[in-house]
Amino acid sequence: MAILKIALMGHPVLRRTAQPVPNPAAPEHRELIDDMRQTMVDATGVGLAAPQVFAGRRIIMFCAPASRAGTGSKTETEIPETVLINPEIEPFSDEVALGWEGCLSLPRLRGLVPRWRHIGYRGYSPDGTLIECEAFGFLARVIQHELDHLNGILYLDRIIDSRLITYEEEMADFRHEDYIGLASIE
Ligand code: NI
Repeated sequence: MAILKIALMGHPVLRRTAQPVPNPAAPEHRELIDDMRQTMVDATGVGLAAPQVFAGRRIIMFCAPASRAGTGSKTETEIPETVLINPEIEPFSDEVALGWEGCLSLPRLRGLVPRWRHIGYRGYSPDGTLIECEAFGFLARVIQHELDHLNGILYLDRIIDSRLITYEEEMADFRHEDYIGLASIE
């Protein structure tokens, strides 16, 4: 296993559409997935998409520790690390929520991003099993963020007002209401 270099915003790999994986159970993906796992843990990320490590395949992984998984839903619990190959999502309602996001490809930045609050998602695990689930709140946000990476989209593209972008170190004593006040929704 290896810790991989993470592409930063500006590298074209982050703007390309990743290619579907013909056979999710093929062993040729195992090394990439193991390396992505080690890279995500090393960077203390909650999600990672293959294009972020220069691999143009439709593979994402995510996890939601208990401390964050409950955000936005009373039914949500800790989500163990999940790998999704060829993932798809659909909104289960029109409800949209604003929430803070960061990205390993945009170090130190945070932004308030609108996302669907409740989604269904599906994809294949590395052993070829079809996974079909629904997600709320924080987990739904992470999955939407990672799926965007497969389509060349970064969270900054979805921010409705550039005043909703900040550096992490400036968030130390930020007032959430101040930012929400800048946004015309919520
Ligand atoms: Ni990201």
